[in-house]
Amino acid sequence: MSKMLTLISSALLVFVLTPFSANADAPSSYQPCAACHGEAAQGSTELKAPALAAQDAAYLARQLQHFKAGVRGADPQDTQGAQMKALAAALSDEDIVLLADYLAALPPPVATAPQTGDLKNGNNYYHASCGACHGGQAQGNPGLNAPALVTLDAAYIKAQYQNFQQGVRGEHPDDKYGRQMKMMSGSLPSEKDLDDVIAYIQSLAAAQ
Ligand code: HEC
Ligand code: HEC
Repeated sequence: MSKMLTLISSALLVFVLTPFSANADAPSSYQPCAACHGEAAQGSTELKAPALAAQDAAYLARQLQHFKAGVRGADPQDTQGAQMKALAAALSDEDIVLLADYLAALPPPVATAPQTGDLKNGNNYYHASCGACHGGQAQGNPGLNAPALVTLDAAYIKAQYQNFQQGVRGEHPDDKYGRQMKMMSGSLPSEKDLDDVIAYIQSLAAAQ
């Protein structure tokens, strides 16, 4: 009986002493990722590492496979992508599936204050040129392989749009969906229109 009690109380002690962590069930392969993408996969604007939380699992898995195979991140101008290419090289197919499923199931990152911009212009251009694939709330559309944009920070969205525009991303012959996006990266007439679209996307995040 006393043995039983000791067992129960030590179990309780372990429970009390174990710090509660938001990512207690993160796969161990996520540990090195947290340094840049954050414990909750909320992303880091400073490190130019995007949020991964709540992104579509198939999209995430495809990006990791593409980094690994040099379909993304291999262009000499793609400094940020090159970092990810090196990291993805060590991941097995099994790790990739596990990581993508784990990240997709995390709650979306807390929205930051929207950039200032002409929201009306952004709204018009977003719905005319982006929403058909990325969704009316920029929530993404897995059926069209288009990722969520609403969870991403302004600087990352801008950098990726410009990567597509400049042929730094979406050029590789095996990058079927990247090529679709590359074709769309000419649809905004000016950088100001892009900034307005991004401000509009961020206003959607703030409204959620
Ligand atoms: C040294 C910092 C760093 C580490 C560590 C890191 N990443 Fe990244 N990751 C980045 C950066 C920077 C980008 C943006 C690349 C670009 O600009 O194209 C990125 C992009 C990604 C993307 C593409 C997201 C999108 O929206 O297209 C995925 C998926 C990803 N990382 C997953 C991971 C995983 C999983 C790990 C751990 C195995 C990891 N990263 C570790 C810096 C890092
Ligand atoms: C024809 C459908 C389509 C349209 C229209 C479209 N996109 Fe995309 N977009 C995609 C697809 C598909 C991808 C994923 C590419 C990949 O798998 O690498 C993508 C990827 C992106 C990414 C990269 C996200 C990340 O996590 O790295 C950004 C940013 C983006 N689109 C912005 C836009 C903006 C802004 C517009 C409007 C001007 C737009 N897209 C219009 C299909 C589209």
